Amino acid sequence: MATWSAPGKLFLFGEHAVVYGKSGIAMAIRPRIFVTVRKGGRMSEMKSPYLKECFRRMNVKGSIYVRSQLSSSSGLGSSAAITVATLSAINDEFGLSKSREEIAQIAFEIEKKVQKGLASPTDTYVSTFGGLILITQDMKRRLNPRNLPLVVGNTGVSHNTARMVEGVGEMMKQYPQIAGPIMDAIHEVVMSALHSLNDHRKLGYLMDLNHALLDALGVGHPALTRLVMAARAAGAFGAKMTGAGGGGCMVAICPPRLKNRVTGAITACDAQAFVTGIDTEGARKEKNG
Ligand code: MEV
Repeated sequence: MATWSAPGKLFLFGEHAVVYGKSGIAMAIRPRIFVTVRKGGRMSEMKSPYLKECFRRMNVKGSIYVRSQLSSSSGLGSSAAITVATLSAINDEFGLSKSREEIAQIAFEIEKKVQKGLASPTDTYVSTFGGLILITQDMKRRLNPRNLPLVVGNTGVSHNTARMVEGVGEMMKQYPQIAGPIMDAIHEVVMSALHSLNDHRKLGYLMDLNHALLDALGVGHPALTRLVMAARAAGAFGAKMTGAGGGGCMVAICPPRLKNRVTGAITACDAQAFVTGIDTEGARKEKNG
């Protein structure tokens, strides 16, 4: 029996624009998803297409038990985390000797297949390796980890990443002269953020800008805007939606002493909120138990 876990992720800057070759910054965060795999015995019945695909790709049969602290369809990379943790547990239990790089690559291919071609390798890469990651058109680079004081708010409105990505694609086709410059502006926000990672106030300002640009791309939602406004009013340096938008989660960066106040302001809007920070480990073997 082997138990592995993998963390969720946040897009700090640059979601959607990364699909068009622009840069982005993502971060692995607490909480994690835990997966136990056991060879032999009866093959578990799996409803999740991600889990089914993991066993098919690794060409093994076994039973599986999943424990998740991450809500699904919220933009926190739960499907990537479950895929990475499952592949890592299968790899360990069946002695397949795949490297971390191979696990990240197979996890990406599985996400892409299940999501009908609409996935970037960001979520699976971040969940496998952990840390703070700069995504550019042709590479991913681990940045020095920073302890950013973050609060995540979950609207509870479930969204469909593939549909949101398709919607932006439509806008790019119909209004390239409008959508193109918005993508360029997001890229510039990412570049500025990259040079301001130790300046939380400036990062907050850039998050506000990124949120407005995502709204302009049509991926906003009234529930997201409500939480973003509530966080800012409670003293956050800045806040934005995170991930595909259309529902799901937002993230705020705040002075450490105001984290609880910002959390309270978000929960007062009938949403869930939690304080989070960077996860630097990525996929990790756990004690069985
Ligand atoms: C979703 O978390 C982020 C998007 O940029 C899509 C992707 O990068 O796969 C919208």
